Amino acid sequence: MSVPLILALETSCDETAVAILRGPGELLVSEISSQIKEHRRFGGVVPEVASRNHLAKIEPLILRALERSGCSPAELDCVAATRGPGLLTSLLVGHSAAKGLAIALGRPFIGVNHLEGHLLSPFFGTIDGPCRSLNLIVSGGHTLLVEIDDLGSYRLLGRTVDDAAGEAFDKVAKLLGLPYPGGPEIDRLSKLGDPSRFDLPRSMSGSGNSNFSFSGLKTAVRYLLPKLEGDFLADLCASFQEAVVDVLVRKTIRAAAVSGVKLVTVSGGVSCNSRLRFKMAKATDDAGFELKLAEPWLSTDNAAMIAYAAAERLTRGYRSNFSEDADPNLSLVN
Ligand code: KG4
Ligand code: ZN
Repeated sequence: MSVPLILALETSCDETAVAILRGPGELLVSEISSQIKEHRRFGGVVPEVASRNHLAKIEPLILRALERSGCSPAELDCVAATRGPGLLTSLLVGHSAAKGLAIALGRPFIGVNHLEGHLLSPFFGTIDGPCRSLNLIVSGGHTLLVEIDDLGSYRLLGRTVDDAAGEAFDKVAKLLGLPYPGGPEIDRLSKLGDPSRFDLPRSMSGSGNSNFSFSGLKTAVRYLLPKLEGDFLADLCASFQEAVVDVLVRKTIRAAAVSGVKLVTVSGGVSCNSRLRFKMAKATDDAGFELKLAEPWLSTDNAAMIAYAAAERLTRGYRSNFSEDADPNLSLVN
């Protein structure tokens, strides 16, 4: 197998996604079918609705990806899928479909940790691939600071003790009557607001460890809201966003300094946030770190990042056992 052709599926939450990648660097196709519209009327993701949608969409999406890439199933060298963490009934759809396809084709199967997909996404398209670095993963379900030594060699430095950063964006947006998912809406409105109008808490920013807490910030917004009158929406969004971003940036820079790394990376859906990208760029520059931000199209859930993690593992000889099951609580480090 010279440059392997990999088909990957991602169904951990509410996006059904298929990607086909040649080697670690040549993306032939990345298809994402979002279920945001189906879940919007519930104000969040409903697991049963999500799994039924994955079931309906996965086969046509695989066929479309193969057609658009010009590849035939027989040309595939490996089939990969997200193994966890995520919603079990959603994970099972992609994980089982990928295993079935791999068995039918007589090819290896790789079950990928969704968090490793996010973690490695800033290295997509780089010549050397994953290397020693300090990495912030900020998504709807997770907020983690992870030190990478090499592929598969990860150390968890800190995590949120309550809500994930994206969850805080989504919950505050809901309080403000904004549609799901709230992160992009708050980002958009914040551009029109004054981030210094409301002084909101920066929980645990001086705690000396690398953990995060965002539920107090959400509660502060909840208590402030009934006291406000007039035109406050953009200022409140900007002040909330500034509080989240300040904590994320401060803790990341401190952890990077303690770790002694040269490179900082940021990935996951919240890494699309324009204020976070701006302030992280400035802070890493001031502190003398190199910064790699995941490309926005690779930040929210997608299968290209799963294919990339599988490609890096495949070239190092890694294969998953077909008896391995999907795991909703799969952790990044053991
Ligand atoms: O990585 P992702 O697609 O899913 C998980 O693995 O959780 O992240 C989705 C999260 C949502 O909470 C969404 O509101 C947030 O990413 N998000 C943003 C932005 N774009 C997406 N949060 C803040 N600003 C954004 N521009
Ligand atoms: Zn994700």
